Amino acid sequence: MTWTLTNTSLDQQQLLVNESLMFLGNGYLGVRGNFEEGYSSDYKTIHGAYINALHENVAIQYGEKLYGFPDDQQKLVNVIDAQGIEIHIDGERFQLFEGDIISFDRNLYMDQGYSERIVHWRSPKGKEVRLTFRRLVSFVIKELFAIHVKIEPISPIQTIQVTSTVNGDVTNYTEEGDPRIASGHAKLIHGNTAWKEEGYTKVKAHAKRSELEVACVTAYDVNLPDVDASHEAIDHRIVDTFTVDGERVFELTKYNVYTDTLRHEDQLFERGVSIQQNISTFEDMLTQQRTYLDEFWKVTDVEIDGDASLQEGIRFNLYHLLQSVGKDAVSNIAAKGLSGEGYEGHYFWDTEIYIFPVFLMTNPEIAKKLLMHRFSTLDDARERAKEMGHRKGALFPWRTITGPESSAFFPAGTAQYHISADIAYSFIQYYLVTGDEQFKQIYLAEVLFETARLWAATGFMKDGKFLINNVTGPDEYTCIINNNYYTNSMAKYNLEWACKIYGQLETDEVSSRLDVTEEEVDTWKEAADHMYLPYDEEKGIHAQDDSFLNKEVWDLENTPKDHFPLLLNYHPLTLYRYQVSKQADTVLSHFLIEQYADNDIIRRSYDYYEKVTTHDSSLSYCVFSIMAAKLGKEEKAYNYFNETARLDIDNLHKNTKDGLHMANMGGTWLAMVYGFAGLRIKETGLHFTPTKVEKWKHLTFPIRFHDRLLKLHLADTTMTYELVEGDALTIYHHGEAVSLEAGQEVKKDI
Ligand code: BGC
Repeated sequence: MTWTLTNTSLDQQQLLVNESLMFLGNGYLGVRGNFEEGYSSDYKTIHGAYINALHENVAIQYGEKLYGFPDDQQKLVNVIDAQGIEIHIDGERFQLFEGDIISFDRNLYMDQGYSERIVHWRSPKGKEVRLTFRRLVSFVIKELFAIHVKIEPISPIQTIQVTSTVNGDVTNYTEEGDPRIASGHAKLIHGNTAWKEEGYTKVKAHAKRSELEVACVTAYDVNLPDVDASHEAIDHRIVDTFTVDGERVFELTKYNVYTDTLRHEDQLFERGVSIQQNISTFEDMLTQQRTYLDEFWKVTDVEIDGDASLQEGIRFNLYHLLQSVGKDAVSNIAAKGLSGEGYEGHYFWDTEIYIFPVFLMTNPEIAKKLLMHRFSTLDDARERAKEMGHRKGALFPWRTITGPESSAFFPAGTAQYHISADIAYSFIQYYLVTGDEQFKQIYLAEVLFETARLWAATGFMKDGKFLINNVTGPDEYTCIINNNYYTNSMAKYNLEWACKIYGQLETDEVSSRLDVTEEEVDTWKEAADHMYLPYDEEKGIHAQDDSFLNKEVWDLENTPKDHFPLLLNYHPLTLYRYQVSKQADTVLSHFLIEQYADNDIIRRSYDYYEKVTTHDSSLSYCVFSIMAAKLGKEEKAYNYFNETARLDIDNLHKNTKDGLHMANMGGTWLAMVYGFAGLRIKETGLHFTPTKVEKWKHLTFPIRFHDRLLKLHLADTTMTYELVEGDALTIYHHGEAVSLEAGQEVKKDI
């Protein structure tokens, strides 16, 4: 059943994990997989519903606040709670923790876009019912979260009572002791109004400082004519009660429509009601989900023959990326997507380096939305560059929602200047994959020029080398260092492309608006040509930075297992003093811009950095898998890949309860496509250097490129290239040009 995730555990820890695993979303709205009927008092739950980008601004409390530290942090808000549906059977409240569970099924259908719980329950007093809860967050009507409940009496029952709540007075989740979760500020929104009007339950809440508002308009549908319905407003909640005699099957559908002031101006209730009027039945919504997902999977599904558990993991990861990725220009994809509150709904470089490529190669229209969101934050990035003392340029924030820096810990936050080059890199990739000339002239040009300016302003020429000091690379266990190889190489690439695109401008619209002159472009060229890429002669590898290789090597072998992740057990300064990497750094650069180092260096680098890397960040495994595949280390490539594919399903990092690891999920796809199939996007087109994978019979996946749809099939010792749709195309197999005609397959030995 690789399209269905099933988990029926009622174990406390697993229930919390399941709330993330079974979450439903559509990129706009995300709802955790909480039980409608609630929990017994000794059970903990992380109850949540989130609207992408809907946030509050919270003042950061510093012990010592220095110049340029951000005043506020944006935090994703837990919005109005519309999940609650309590059920009383002849006065006894249904709960999974009381009475007898005669049978229990819980599934998430990734091909059909809904989740389901079916419970055959015997109450403490012996009443028996079968309850079916189905819920969906619509991919077609983005504001809609619907729940369908069916109550089937099995033993004689007199009365069934259902009370459904919409609550505007919710709090966010907090936990002390883990920097990856918020530790205070639980109350981010406040209920304003809650009433019932013209058959609709209307609840509104607001965040005080961001002044954003959210509303929920709820309507109900019941299958029986003689239902006794009433409602009650209690504080910021509306409770609707439905009472029926218990002889017949009772079905209730709850349609919740969310609106917010980022997208629906200040017409929240009006827009909510008009959306409600276009909703048909729950069954129709299910059909729409199916149609939407058929289209999605046609261009996205990856098939692995020979390992059902991996297959499940891959589909799960792709499905959840789709459920979380922002599809409008005001949102992006948070580190935990819309599945939980870890990292507070912030967008990081995770988007550009780990997630964007998946959409770029499968659903480029969604990929473009991600770029447009970043583009919309350029003014904030320009302002931040100034605040950080640069004359010009754009410094993108390490973590943000709408643009301002939200990181309070600058050594592993703002100092990660590489995010600006990562964003530039993704803009270049979009151009290479779509060939969109208009995009190049407008968006690519502006982003490249402003980021090139940042590098020119941050670094300086000394003894014929361009140096970039006091930055942090991807490895967060090594902070504020000089000449991080990853940063410098990405900056070099960024600068080279800025010069190239300047030379290809068809009008001077962008350059004159930004006041870019030829003299300035010459300085970018000089910086790119002389960019210092630290190299250690003795080891024959690129040094992670100027100091890394001179530090004492951390004794990973003798570090107790329960001291990982190190960040939860050692002061940052302790970590900074050692050669120990949280995640792929130099090795990642050798993947993204392999042309800057030869294969021998890349091999030695891999061997060296592998020994000092803890993979405490889930962003690490996929990179090592990709590079192991490139270097012919098949077993390692497979093992690292395995760590990514089921990381959340199997809760390998022990924090899936706080949300799913979106970047890692993208990484699974990267490991297959860039790793095993060996894809690289170059200016000359698509290049493949596939690797033999003995564990599976075959690996099949589609990709989009320049308006074409291709299907790749990697089996045993051959790779088959099929051009499914679009004009003839030349691709490269181990450097050899291969011409493809529409509808034609070409098979090549690996
Ligand atoms: C990683 C970062 C990442 C962040 C959000 C951290 O643990 O070190 O690279 O951006 O998590 O996923």
